[in-house]
Parts: sequence; structure tokens; C-alpha cells
Amino acid sequence: MPKGLRIAINTGGGDAPGLNAVIEAVTMSAYHRGWEVFGIKNGYQGLLDTDEIIRLTPEKVRNISSTGGTILGTTNRGNPFAMPVKTIDGQVEIKDVSDKILENFKRLKFDCLIAVGGDGSLKIAYDFFKKGMPVIGVPKTIDNDLGGTVITFGFDTAVSIATEAIDRLHSTARSHERVIVVEVMGRRAGWIALNSGISGNAHVILIPEIPFNIDKVCEHITSLELEGIKYAIVVAAEGAVPQGGKEIIKEGAKDGRQDVVLGGVAEYVAKEIAKKTGKDTRSLVLGHLQRGGSPTTFDRLLALRFGAAAIRAIENRQFGHMVALHPPLVTTVPLEDALSTMKKVPLDSDTIITARDLGICFGD
Ligand code: F6P
Repeated sequence: MPKGLRIAINTGGGDAPGLNAVIEAVTMSAYHRGWEVFGIKNGYQGLLDTDEIIRLTPEKVRNISSTGGTILGTTNRGNPFAMPVKTIDGQVEIKDVSDKILENFKRLKFDCLIAVGGDGSLKIAYDFFKKGMPVIGVPKTIDNDLGGTVITFGFDTAVSIATEAIDRLHSTARSHERVIVVEVMGRRAGWIALNSGISGNAHVILIPEIPFNIDKVCEHITSLELEGIKYAIVVAAEGAVPQGGKEIIKEGAKDGRQDVVLGGVAEYVAKEIAKKTGKDTRSLVLGHLQRGGSPTTFDRLLALRFGAAAIRAIENRQFGHMVALHPPLVTTVPLEDALSTMKKVPLDSDTIITARDLGICFGD
């Protein structure tokens, strides 16, 4: 077994419940091998300004696996290979600062970077790997849209929170005979909407993989009356698109953010339903509630397994790989493969078929 390794770890992109569990497992598994672990603050930023790097010891990480967020901080802005940097005259210039990061990594005598992130952060990790940095990826995202792994940690917690919210909306919607449209996260994949919508007995689920026809949605809501149901719950993924239309955007990509901010589909759908059916309609956006707080037991365990597996992957010198869940095993896959395709909901999946069997409408 290699002795005395120095491992760096960062967390990048949007936070997800389970990040601290990965940090705990990485630190403890390394400690038991006689290795040292160093926490890099705020994604890759902490390898540019190296003042805040913290040595992670068992005392620092003990029992953090049950807590939400990340003790290392995170950001979904700023790619070191194309970083917006302010010039002296106040202008913004795009600069490649990756050489500086690699130089700092070598100066600090790190043997490997464990990058915990979604597709954006892991793509950066892969670019560093190609530049000569030994890297191991750990897949994180509530959206569950990363390839190479059956599931990412954070997803189960987000689905549980969304399901609980949907459960609660039934009683108020029923009491007022209202239609309530609830928008959930997930970017361009419908995993959160689908799983929480089915579990929460939604009447309509709108996902990016199935562009919806608003008239079909309205027809379904009206037809529920024949069964004596005078209210409806519609779960809309933030990336759901009307047939022939475009995704609804709250904010464009700016200030180093590589993707647009999706948002507004629930309000759009609610207004259309009100207009076309005359029903009293409300909308709400669950937003960051889905990312906050403690991880579920499933996510906690998965994140602990991923963290420990990342250390074993270093031992096996599997640099350029990502740990992944292929039940019942946690294995490794090349980062290149994991990043090559976004994981969308397969239209022939038994979950979609189950929803249709249950009478849930997808607006198609
Ligand atoms: O990727 C995770 C995610 O929560 C998406 O579901 C959502 O579109 C996005 O991040 C929101 O980003 P922000 O935290 O910048 O609002």
C-alpha cells in the first residue's frame, strides 16, 4: 500500500445532501492508511488562492455525514479553463488559469485530487487529468443526470423532499378544488419530477423528455371530474418544454456561470390551465428546499460508500476514473465515458410505464 499520500478534495457545482458524508469517508479511509487529506475551499477557487486549504482530520469530520451542505463550500461559477477575470479598468476578460492551479497542486505536493461534483465540475476534473493531474471523480447531483452511474447521491433526498411537498399539496388543493402546479428541479432531466410525481400521486407530470401539449393537460384535468376529482396536482420539472416551444429560462448564463438558470414553467402552466379550464389555479416553486438539510439514509450510505471507494481507487491508481453505483457494487468508470452522455429518463422505462398504468398524464 502506498504510504504517506497527500490527497486534496474539493466539492463543486450546486450543493447536494451527502457531500459531507463523502468528505467524512474520504478523510477516515485515508487516515486509516496513514494518508493526509486537505480540503480545498469553493471548488477549484481554493487551488488558486491556496491560503484557506484545511487539513482534514478525524476530529474535523467526525459525524458530519448527517449534515447538509458542504463544509468546504462550493460554487457553480467559474471554470479555471475559461475564468472571467476583472481587469484593472473594470472590464471582464476570460482567462485560462489552469496552469496556475496545476502549479499550486504540484507545489503543495498533492498526489491526487478527489473532485466531488456533477457534470460541470467533473468535466473540469477530466480536463485537469488530461493536463497531468491525478484525479478521481465522485458523482454528485440532485438531478441524477450524470452518466456512468445508476444513481448520484443527493437525488434520493431531493425526491423525498419533493414527495413530501406534493403529499401536503393534495389536502389544500382538494379543500379549495384548485389545480396546484409545483415546479421541481432537475435541469434537463425529469428524474426528480417523475419519481416524486408518481410517489406523491400527482395527476399530471411534465418532464423534459416528453414535450407537453397544454390542451392534453387541460383535457386530463377536466376528465378527472368524471371520477369525482375536482382538484389536480401537476408536477412540472423545471426543464419541461411545451410541444414546439422552448425551455423557460429565469436568467441567462452570466458571471462565469456556464448554464442558464431554468425556472418559470409552473407559473406558465398554471396560467394556461386557468385560462383554458376556468379552474382556480396556483403555482409554486420548490427550489433550493430540495437541496437543503440532511441527506436521507440512502444518500448518506451511498455518499459514504463513494468516499471510501474513491480512496480505494487511488490505491489502485485508477486516475481519470469516477466511482459509480452499479448495484449491488460500487465500481469505477472512466470519467470520459461518464461525461459522454447526459442521463435522461428513458421513455421505455418501467417507471414511465408505471405512471401511465396509474393513469398519470404526461401531456402527450
Ligand atoms: O444542478 C443542481 C441544480 O439544483 C439544478 O436542479 C438547478 O437547475 C440548478 O442547480 C440551480 O442552480 P442555482 O443553485 O445556481 O440556483
